[in-house]
Amino acid sequence: VPLEETSLPLFFGWFLLPGIQDKVRCTSMDFLKTLDTLEAFKKHLPDFTVEAEKEVDLEQYFQANGALHCTTKFCDYGKAEGAKEYADKPAIKELYGSAFELSLSALFVTPRTVGARVSLSEDQLILWPADAEKEAVSVVPAAATLPAGSHAHITLGCAEGVEPQQTGFDLLEILALQQEGQEGELVEEMELGSLAYYGKGRWLLSLREPVSAQACFSSLYG
Ligand code: A2P
Repeated sequence: VPLEETSLPLFFGWFLLPGIQDKVRCTSMDFLKTLDTLEAFKKHLPDFTVEAEKEVDLEQYFQANGALHCTTKFCDYGKAEGAKEYADKPAIKELYGSAFELSLSALFVTPRTVGARVSLSEDQLILWPADAEKEAVSVVPAAATLPAGSHAHITLGCAEGVEPQQTGFDLLEILALQQEGQEGELVEEMELGSLAYYGKGRWLLSLREPVSAQACFSSLYG
């Protein structure tokens, strides 16, 4: 492999600082711990898992993966489409290594993934690739019509055998339903916020107080 190709990272993104990583993980664990005890969750359990189980321990069900981050551009060491163009943008170079304050506005759970929705501000959208949502259309067709930044998320855990990339698709599916006017079935007001059910095992907790997370814009070579 020529050095030129290896000089691009696996991905660019915002990496949460250690203290806030712990806080986000705790919040997510609290949510999972509560969710699987709710009657509404138990009622929809067959949508969640195909196995004929009566209960599921969500904390065990999802495996945590690495340092918490919000991917901006997956480059695959230069093999991904548009990787070099992204890396060469002046804003990327200029803001590389800078600190940001991400706003985590919701947590979501599906039979495949658990994640946090990141609501990007105008200055954060500068780092967001223009085609990020369009790249997902083969999986989530309605993604093409969603506003830029809709795909922004933090993967908190994946079910066995599921790739982290799935988390963003799961979020886009929920946002597409919202855009079509489906507000989800309001299940319960929890301490953290309001919990809604979107069918097929998809749950969204809109946080009453968005979690503000300090993060560094950087890249991972992996
Ligand atoms: P995500 O950003 O949803 O968490 P991996 O460990 O599989 O190589 O992935 C490294 C990171 O890049 C993960 O954060 C992952 O998902 C993201 N990622 C992996 N593959 C893709 C892809 N094809 N498109 C966009 N992001 C990807």
